[in-house]
Amino acid sequence: MRAALAAALILLGCGGTQTVPAATLGERQFSNAALSTSPFNAFSCSTCHQVAKSPAARNDPGFNLYDVVHRQTWWGGYETTLLDAINYCMTEFMGGRALAADSDNARELYEYLAANSADPSAPALPLTVVKNVTGLTNLTGDTAHGKDVYDRSCRRCHGDPHTGNGRLTSKASIIPEDTQRVFPGIARQVAVEKVRHGKFFNIGGIMPLYPAESISDQEIADVITYLGF
Ligand code: HEC
Ligand code: HEC
Repeated sequence: MRAALAAALILLGCGGTQTVPAATLGERQFSNAALSTSPFNAFSCSTCHQVAKSPAARNDPGFNLYDVVHRQTWWGGYETTLLDAINYCMTEFMGGRALAADSDNARELYEYLAANSADPSAPALPLTVVKNVTGLTNLTGDTAHGKDVYDRSCRRCHGDPHTGNGRLTSKASIIPEDTQRVFPGIARQVAVEKVRHGKFFNIGGIMPLYPAESISDQEIADVITYLGF
């Protein structure tokens, strides 16, 4: 604390350097993959979440975090503090060390989210993890709508279908080819499973799961049909 104060006084002494508000720093951190301590991580919070009063039409796996600080619980009731909810993402998806409650990063993220939380009675959001995906594999999909879903959702990480051009990280599979090569005959099933379960249910990897609230069964059928699974 004393060191921070001394540093601040020195800065002031050198010609009135403006302090950037914590919420502004937090907004930057929200889109900064280097917030994670893992050198292999390419995800930022904004890869999977929006923070917007009027969110863009995206199928993000993670919910819109507008009003998030006022919710009573997070992750469908599994997390009872906001920091734990954030740190679950940090450790499971971004491969980083959990943010300490008294760290600058945690405080700045909090200030940013608080600045975007207008409704003090905002309810906790339901989270439906779809366990059984067998029926979904046989749904007929609509290619045109599937392209739309892909562009609004999967493209950010996977880049162009078939080539992976523009993908966020070389860890993101080239779909559908990588999957068809590794899982001949069951690639469609694997894709469905991947979207619904992500890395969980012993599947592994770093892809997030998509709860029912984030993408419908029909939209999954549409997107995997568009991809040629
Ligand atoms: C790879 C995707 C991914 C990344 C990266 C990610 N999250 Fe999440 N996050 C999710 C998913 C999926 C959920 C579960 C659905 C939900 O509750 O929003 C979730 C849940 C949450 C929740 C609980 C929201 C609620 O009301 O239930 C918070 C808060 C949160 N994330 C914050 C963050 C922050 C802050 C970061 C960056 C440090 C981050 N997340 C990074 C995917 C991600
Ligand atoms: C946040 C980034 C991200 C998003 C968004 C995302 N994926 Fe992925 N996906 C990955 C990564 C990284 C991998 C490879 C590592 C792993 O398996 O987790 C992957 C793997 C896959 C695989 C390969 C499974 C296998 O083992 O061959 C499929 C299929 C897939 N994703 C489909 C999709 C579809 C369809 C969407 C959109 C609905 C989507 N992904 C959205 C990051 C993402």
